[in-house]
Amino acid sequence: MISSLRGMRDLLPETSIVYEFVVKTCCEVAQKYGFEPIYTPLLEETRLFKRSVGESSDIVGKEMYQFIDKGGNDVCLRPEGTAGVVRSFIENKMDKAGGIRKFYYHGAMFRYERPQKGRFRQFNQFAVESFGQSDVREDASVILLLNDILKALGIKTYIKLNSLGCPKCMPNFRQKLVEFLEQNDEICDDCKRRKDTNPIRVLDCKNEHCQQIYKNAPSLHEHLCDECKEDFSKLRAILDDFGLKYELDEKLVRGLDYYSKTAFEFISDEIGAQSSIAGGGRYDRLVEYLDGKPTFAVGFAMGLDRLLELVKMPESGRNGLYVGALFDGGVDEIFKLGTLKRANSKVFIEYKSRSLKAHLKQADNKNALWFACIGEDEFAKGQVWLKNLENKEEKTILIEDFLKEDYV
Ligand code: HAM
Repeated sequence: MISSLRGMRDLLPETSIVYEFVVKTCCEVAQKYGFEPIYTPLLEETRLFKRSVGESSDIVGKEMYQFIDKGGNDVCLRPEGTAGVVRSFIENKMDKAGGIRKFYYHGAMFRYERPQKGRFRQFNQFAVESFGQSDVREDASVILLLNDILKALGIKTYIKLNSLGCPKCMPNFRQKLVEFLEQNDEICDDCKRRKDTNPIRVLDCKNEHCQQIYKNAPSLHEHLCDECKEDFSKLRAILDDFGLKYELDEKLVRGLDYYSKTAFEFISDEIGAQSSIAGGGRYDRLVEYLDGKPTFAVGFAMGLDRLLELVKMPESGRNGLYVGALFDGGVDEIFKLGTLKRANSKVFIEYKSRSLKAHLKQADNKNALWFACIGEDEFAKGQVWLKNLENKEEKTILIEDFLKEDYV
């Protein structure tokens, strides 16, 4: 027997139905906020992710599905979606066109991580990317959008919020942080490496000893410039105004290198150790960094796999139509009628003739709302016997009338 690969899984129908409901809900909410769909390839050049997600990140350092294709190109299964969308934004000259463009997308991402509950090597994200607005109200809007989605899905989360500063204030903070790290020999090897590649990443080190040391590290928020401070307090005021609860977390630096200013994560207490439901923030420099015209940008991605067991699906009662014949000679007719009804109704067609009792039992198992069958009598008179399985009403009607009605 051949099994699926480690960290990869099938979504069987019970779960796929929830998955489709979640995606539909996400798309509908995103459209209300003015986002349009975009879909980019699953495979991209490796250097796209090296330059955007960053060489110092775990994603690029350890987790990429990277290989040389038959044409000798160094390619990678996308570990996240932002880089591909930015590549497309530039390649299709939307940066040069200027203005505001807002995209949403969903699909598979690949990270060669150690699998555990809620952590897969192939997983699915729903994400939005908004280009062209520096106004912090857009940061607030994407957070409110995400909050609306989670509310619609009945999922409780709390928000962790941070500001990572901008190219004006960050270099000063980074220098002070490096000086601090140089005085502390006891930091872990990973942090020693981060000190040289992307020092701010030390702040979310999982090593407890490091965290003890960082209690005395220079404060990120104390080093924000006036503009970053002003934007951050405006963002908080908007979230307060809309009643969103958040926790300020100076150590929230995110695992991807492209962020500046706003960074946020939505966390759930109900899904175990892999508690981050979604994450995002502002990435005003990434378009320029990938050789595009400088463009403001902000977005988030939500991990769909972690949500699936939490989602409360709306009750689905009986629905659709079941059709069957009571004698062999009626099967072709019932097949034809059932197929025609599929233009407007969900129809289950039984290909074998059965007793009325056996058909009704099967229709009940399928949770059908409507039941139609033909016996020899109905066949001779061009009629169908119809029953509503909810209110139990029964009637015999002409085939032409049966074809006109919708049974949904
Ligand atoms: P990220 O924080 O790397 O951000 O991923 C976003 C979400 O994807 C996480 O919060 C988590 O729910 C889910 N996720 C990540 N790794 C896994 C995994 N191995 N298994 C299951 N779920 C996972 C990004 O990907 C950025 N592109 C977000 C963004 C968009 N920032 C701006 N725009």
